[in-house]
Amino acid sequence: MSTELPPVIAIDGPSGSGKGTVASGAAEALGWHLLDSGALYRILAHVSQQAGVSADTPARLEALARGLRVDFVRTSTGAEQILLDGRDVTTVVRSEESGKRASELAVIPQVRQGLVGVQRSFRRTPGLVADGRDMGTVIFPDAGLKIFLTASVEERVQRRYNQLKQKGLNATLPALFRDLIARDERDRNRAVSPLKAAPDAVVLDTTGMPVAAVVDQVLDRARRRYGEAAAGRRQGG
Ligand code: C5P
Repeated sequence: MSTELPPVIAIDGPSGSGKGTVASGAAEALGWHLLDSGALYRILAHVSQQAGVSADTPARLEALARGLRVDFVRTSTGAEQILLDGRDVTTVVRSEESGKRASELAVIPQVRQGLVGVQRSFRRTPGLVADGRDMGTVIFPDAGLKIFLTASVEERVQRRYNQLKQKGLNATLPALFRDLIARDERDRNRAVSPLKAAPDAVVLDTTGMPVAAVVDQVLDRARRRYGEAAAGRRQGG
């Protein structure tokens, strides 16, 4: 019996670097599973708020984190849905409020610890594309392909703005700019699992690049690294 674990592509980067869109596009093209790890932090932010569990009770947060039952599915129209215990929580999880609270909870070591097992449970055949801040450094340090996406702050703010507007959510550029800088600071400077490229990651600056071109670069590297296993559903991206 083979003990080899299914292959993983880790895609990390700061907010608005495009990692979510790129990871989703790559997972779809390859026919692999998708892990949007940021969504887990966002769901925990939402669930803990609902349950009245605050940041001063890390053991309770850890227990909540361990118990999360989350699925990422694609609807028949191609839209992505985030399910918590089978319930659609996509809209609430994508709000700026959840993102902000998520990044506050993400500095708590017990929260990160509680989510390790949940994240690793997404590693299933034929493979996994995982996006976040510490996929290549902490959660899947043995990933065969690690990508670290960057882009200028201005472009990341603009992308976030377009994304939120497209979803009909409220946003203003100056507020997004402030939030993004604050979140970058917290993510880069926290003591546990700070946002940084793994030493063996390929760093791609996506400023000015269309998403499809970034997805193609990831798929190219995936095919070179994994051959047949990454042959995917469509050839040539
Ligand atoms: O990627 P997204 O913006 O959805 O993530 C929300 C927040 O969750 C991030 O700002 C970050 O603080 C935290 N996060 C993290 N580690 C991950 C994914 C997200 O700390 N792997």
